[in-house]
Amino acid sequence: MAALEGLLDGEQKGTPAGHYLAEEASREQFTLVVREFALDGLTEAQNFFPIIPRLPIRAQMAVMRVLIDEFGCGNLQQAHSQLYRNLLTELGLPLDLNHYLDHTSDETYAFLNVFYWLTQRVPDVEYFLGALAYLEASIPAAFTVQVRACERLGITHGRYYSEHVHIDDFHRKEMQLAIRECGATRAMDPTKLWIGALLLSELIGTAFEAAVRRAREEA
Ligand SMILES: [Fe+2]
Ligand SMILES: [Fe+2]
Repeated sequence: MAALEGLLDGEQKGTPAGHYLAEEASREQFTLVVREFALDGLTEAQNFFPIIPRLPIRAQMAVMRVLIDEFGCGNLQQAHSQLYRNLLTELGLPLDLNHYLDHTSDETYAFLNVFYWLTQRVPDVEYFLGALAYLEASIPAAFTVQVRACERLGITHGRYYSEHVHIDDFHRKEMQLAIRECGATRAMDPTKLWIGALLLSELIGTAFEAAVRRAREEA
């Protein structure tokens, strides 16, 4: 947990790509970044479910509370994938998954696909728990970039981002609880938790950098 805090502190100041998107990107460039992450937004959290039966029951409850929020507490209008659909619609982008299959970069697929490994093929659940603990904890600071870009560009359906800034603070706590609950039932390997966190940090960071770079080249 201390190492994770240190990693997050180091990332707090943001990156040049983040600063560019927040303060300088055109609407067209921002739209290209939204398009780049459409496969993630449209399928949000669906690929987490296979981890549930692999966790002890109390850790299952903590991760389920996260998942319930991701799915709008059962209200489609609040589901994170629906918030992304609203954003895509405002920006004139299609809602059909197939449209994005050929537009999406290898860097983004690496981030998306790691969850299939983390939840289904991974030998130990620590990797997933460390990865999701990192992701939920990093998003409130990371998405301030997109919140600012939406404000600046007059995009009205930026709630996908502002909702994450709010709710992922709770998800950060739930994931730390999930780790403690797992640790209460069996010995946990902190090195594997840490590798999961570093893996996600590297993959999401690389995907974001590549998305902003491509948007600047393409627009
Ligand atoms: Fe979400
Ligand atoms: Fe979340």
